[in-house]
Amino acid sequence: MKIILAMVESVDGKTTHGDDSRVFRWTSKEDQEHFKRLVNQAKLIVMGSKTYEAAKKMLQHQPGKLRVVFTHNPEKYADQAIPGQLEFTNETPQVLVDRLTQQGYDELLLASGAQVNGLFFDAGLVDEIFLTIEPKLLGIGNPMAIQKNIINLTLLNVEKLNERGTLLLHYTVNKS
Ligand SMILES: NC(=O)c1ccc[n+]([C@@H]2O[C@H](COP(=O)([O-])OP(=O)(O)OC[C@H]3O[C@@H](n4cnc5c(N)ncnc54)[C@H](OP(=O)(O)O)[C@@H]3O)[C@@H](O)[C@H]2O)c1
Repeated sequence: MKIILAMVESVDGKTTHGDDSRVFRWTSKEDQEHFKRLVNQAKLIVMGSKTYEAAKKMLQHQPGKLRVVFTHNPEKYADQAIPGQLEFTNETPQVLVDRLTQQGYDELLLASGAQVNGLFFDAGLVDEIFLTIEPKLLGIGNPMAIQKNIINLTLLNVEKLNERGTLLLHYTVNKS
């Protein structure tokens, strides 16, 4: 399973403005279009429950696209689950990835917050990162991931998305 993490952050490395979960308030139209393209292409998208809560009004569920939400309490969300389209899980990332690989999925878009991203890095599961850097300083906010170890990356590509200098960086994760 190829696992691709997508994130947007400020120049000072924040992925949220403090506790405000509304990332679209400070991200560029060009990044929003890039993220929408990734989501449209993805058949499998994983997020944590906080990201799900922040995004759920915007999510369009459809057959052939599975979203999996990490939560310690899947039963709390039982009435929101849609078989084959929206699942809630407390599996480990490795157990989830093994199960979904068996079901035929070969690519996963990780569109989560720092906690769940950290779990995937700790399990050595992330293969690539699309990181958008918006030319802003947010001052306070969450990091990309709260993982235990240093993760080494190799830059594959840089693209300037607009005149103000929003940058889209594409990295591969070094696994050694
Ligand atoms: N800038 C960006 O590109 C970007 C991208 C995505 C999200 N965000 C923002 O990031 C924020 C959320 O980030 P976050 O790190 O606070 O949250 P998160 O990673 O989205 O979700 C955290 C939740 O995941 C669940 N979780 C954590 N560890 C788990 C485990 N071992 N097993 C099962 N479930 C587990 C818990 O849910 P329960 O509490 O339900 O148990 C926890 O509260 C939001 O504001 C969102 O808007 C920004």
